[in-house]
Amino acid sequence: MADDTHDIILIGGGVIGLAVGWSLAQAGRGVAVVERGQLGQGASQAAAGMLAAGIETEPSEEGLLPLTRAAQALWPDFAAKLEAASGHSLHYRTEGSMVIALTRDDREWLQRLARFQGKCGVELEFLTPSQARQREPALTPNLTAALYSRQDHQVENRALAPALAVALRRAGGIIYDHSAAELICDHGRCVGVRRRHSDGSSQDMLAARVILAAGAWSRDLVGLPAAARPPVRPIKGQMLAVQMDAAAPLLRQVVWTQNIYLVPRDDGRLLIGATIEEKGFDPHVTAGGLFGLLEAAWRALPAIEDLPVVESWVGHRPGSPDDAPILGEIQAGLGADGLILATGHHRNGILLTPITAQLIADFVRQGEMADLGQKFSPRRFY
Ligand code: FAD
Ligand code: GLY
Repeated sequence: MADDTHDIILIGGGVIGLAVGWSLAQAGRGVAVVERGQLGQGASQAAAGMLAAGIETEPSEEGLLPLTRAAQALWPDFAAKLEAASGHSLHYRTEGSMVIALTRDDREWLQRLARFQGKCGVELEFLTPSQARQREPALTPNLTAALYSRQDHQVENRALAPALAVALRRAGGIIYDHSAAELICDHGRCVGVRRRHSDGSSQDMLAARVILAAGAWSRDLVGLPAAARPPVRPIKGQMLAVQMDAAAPLLRQVVWTQNIYLVPRDDGRLLIGATIEEKGFDPHVTAGGLFGLLEAAWRALPAIEDLPVVESWVGHRPGSPDDAPILGEIQAGLGADGLILATGHHRNGILLTPITAQLIADFVRQGEMADLGQKFSPRRFY
């Protein structure tokens, strides 16, 4: 093959593009990832890293559950393999997650949630307020009820993209960062990618397969014909972190309330998230956003009062019309035949990383989407 011809090109160096690339490179395929900025600095950096197939399942999301549970089952092995392949720790933590209620209204909500999730087959344990406080003594004494989900783990999502990049390179993959991809189509077929450098110069790369994994920006790809644009939109999320004493953390497991979640990290940071806002690519952390998060966090865990705020940030989830990912080849006749989509992971992209990598890599190798992935086909939107 000539230097500018590749087997597979992935557009987007977030966790999805890198994980699909790593999976294909391990299978012996020639992989190049094109990232317009720094690897992993999109939603993959902004996330909370919860692998919450159980507790995060809401009414109307039943259809997603087989996929999120399959992802959850893959995570321990995926984390171990990635740590071995990269030499990076992912800080995978298995304490489980709790949902707490603080008022009588909250308790009604929690019971409804438990009934719904129980019907879906999510394994949950009811805790009395005192049992919940035995697990997490710093929680407010005003608890009215609590649920515990043993299987909802967490990972340090900020460690994920760097680890995947090392593993991908070690498996023979190439990464072009700081160059924006544009799609090249010829006679209605997607045939490659133009890498646009910051000085305006460009380089064309041909490929047997192109996979679009550009997160919330997937719709805006230059060169993608209008009819083929995936219906992905940015869903803004604001978060902040306070610093606990890492040797004596206030909280050891993930805790959800009706409005927020609290995620303790190994280094003592406690993440408090997240807003869900339809504000396009608005990059601002706002007073109202932080106020809402802090007030709700303080009600659940009053001792955060004195902790230093060490960081606040905004990320953009790649939302789709049904909040489920878009996985597979777009249909022919839209001007970009052959293009594969791996996008639209919305609130679950960290959780869904290993299953997305598996489904898309198998599709590329075998030409057929596994049953589990079929209902997430792009064809449902075109
Ligand atoms: P991204 O990480 O956004 O990567 C897309 C990449 O494509 C970016 O690096 C971007 O620069 C690049 N790109 C865009 N256009 C181009 C182009 N033309 N050329 C080259 N590169 C391009 N998920 C969970 O599972 N658990 C959680 O706890 C969780 N919490 C979250 C909390 C918040 C506040 C947010 C915002 C998200 C959260 N998510 C969570 C969702 C998760 O972060 C995303 O679903 C996931 O990161 C999507 O990964 P991605 O690789 O598709 O997108
Ligand atoms: N999954 C958590 C979030 O999207 O905020």
